[in-house]
Amino acid sequence: MSATFTLDGKEVPFRDGQTIIQAAQEQGAWIPHLCYHPEFKPHGSCKLCTVTVNGRHMASCTTQATAGQVVESNTEALNDERRTLLQMLFVEGNHFCPSCEKSGNCKLQATAYELGMMTPHFDHFYPSRPVDASHPEILLDFNRCILCSLCVRASRDVDKKFVFALSGRGIGTKLIVNAASGRLADTNVAMDDKALEVCPVGVILRKRHGFAVPIGERTYDKAPISECPDYSPLPAKEEA
Ligand code: SF4
Ligand code: FES
Repeated sequence: MSATFTLDGKEVPFRDGQTIIQAAQEQGAWIPHLCYHPEFKPHGSCKLCTVTVNGRHMASCTTQATAGQVVESNTEALNDERRTLLQMLFVEGNHFCPSCEKSGNCKLQATAYELGMMTPHFDHFYPSRPVDASHPEILLDFNRCILCSLCVRASRDVDKKFVFALSGRGIGTKLIVNAASGRLADTNVAMDDKALEVCPVGVILRKRHGFAVPIGERTYDKAPISECPDYSPLPAKEEA
């Protein structure tokens, strides 16, 4: 690992094929992100991870690292843009955190705290998508979906089930359940499916598990999201 780029003035080593966010996370540097997850192919939809590379805006989750790149992430201008993106996500859904059981464990909320987003700024859309409570153990509140597609990728690539999908175009894009009835109860979803673990917000919820962790002990009560990297390196292979 000899090639490096600079991130906010610091040298970051990288391996061939790594993206900027992967190399940064290996060094413990946080670049805000919502649709990136180290275990899945990047999706490039949320744009929170946008950095400047040699002065040009690029999504760090889809941009390969190359030697000598000058990458800036933690600048006031980029964080301003990120706050605007967060505001758009907040008003597009019904993110009423005080009554959401994901509060304190939600990446959208934690990122907004970390970046100092104070108000929604835009008019709320107030979507009215019916909750799917058909499954005995799982609840889906589609009004909180940020269309990151992590559940879609997990169900397709890990569970091999295609339980979730994104449907529609533009502002009409929405998460759907892949059953003729559209109901989760009519899929082969199982409680140990990866797709049930990955939602960064409060859409996919286990019934009767809400509000079990006291305030003060939830994930992002204990440490800000910038100190909770979701990068989990694979264990090094033992030399033969
Ligand atoms: S349900 Fe959650 S994981 Fe799936 S697309 Fe929506 S926000 Fe992402
Ligand atoms: S994390 Fe890169 S676009 Fe969402």
